[in-house]
Amino acid sequence: MTEISEARLRELADMADNELEKIKAHALSDAGEQRQVIEAMWYSVSAGGKRIRPVLVLEFCSICGGDVKNALPAACALEMIHTFSLIHDDLPCMDDDDLRRGKPSCHKAYGEAMALLAGDALLNLAYETICQGEGVSAETKLALISELSAAVGSNGMIGGQVIDTCYEKSLSEKQLLEMYSMKTGALLKAACRMGCISAGADSEIIRQAGSYAEKLGLAFQIIDDILDITGDEKLLGKPIGSDAKEGKVTYASLAGTERSQKAASDLTNEALMILDSFDNSQFLKDLTVFLLKRNY
Ligand code: IPE
Ligand code: IPE
Ligand code: MG
Ligand code: MG
Ligand code: MG
Repeated sequence: MTEISEARLRELADMADNELEKIKAHALSDAGEQRQVIEAMWYSVSAGGKRIRPVLVLEFCSICGGDVKNALPAACALEMIHTFSLIHDDLPCMDDDDLRRGKPSCHKAYGEAMALLAGDALLNLAYETICQGEGVSAETKLALISELSAAVGSNGMIGGQVIDTCYEKSLSEKQLLEMYSMKTGALLKAACRMGCISAGADSEIIRQAGSYAEKLGLAFQIIDDILDITGDEKLLGKPIGSDAKEGKVTYASLAGTERSQKAASDLTNEALMILDSFDNSQFLKDLTVFLLKRNY
């Protein structure tokens, strides 16, 4: 990644982090009897993470000519829901992983019941955060909530997690990719589209952002699967070998790491081509390549 793009990534991730920290401080300041669940929620959010989804919200808003400040609630909402998905993904009844973002998983730190509830509460806080956004019209808020709720639900991320949990052992390559587009692609797609919606972009631009994210989402999950085999636990901040331990068929286990790398690279090239239809998309292009080459 070029120095300029690296700086932009840091700038946008920091913007999202600062806003999340403000929301956290407010939540903790009047936590009262609910301190335990509120601490569990923010334990997982504040543990870190690449903040890719908020960065995508903010950058798509920016290149569509919007004011990124107006997209901050949507950016935070995406990170809250993503974190909720990770907390639940790590539970013993799901992937049963004890390490997340370099720290004990939420259920290891707070117990299973509190981790379950912290995830649920983050999901709801996401919508509350969008509703409370200042300087955003009611119509735009409704469009954002409509986009996000569909992306999270049983035909989106949660549906993908259902397939991952219940059916994965007998999936074909095509079905596997459909599952990836749901469990991972849906939130990334919502992030890109919500950035455009925040800027008041027209429907064709929003559609193009979604097409880009579909390619990115597949490449992103394929690389995640490869890293589960070849990655370094210290860098990743989560256990490697989790998929094999759970007996999961992944793209990497089905096609081998070399063919998987090629598939992710092809998808990245397709994503880059779609970005050609946007002005000022150099940072997004660099980010897309960075995500292909990432080791964490
Ligand atoms: C991990 O997502 C889960 C997947 C959807 C593959 P990230 O790799 O974005 O996790 P963080 O946010 O950086 O921890
Ligand atoms: C996660 O897929 C998808 C989610 C919706 C959380 P994984 O189970 O592969 O994610 P990691 O590897 O645990 O982060
Ligand atoms: Mg999983
Ligand atoms: Mg997992
Ligand atoms: Mg994984």
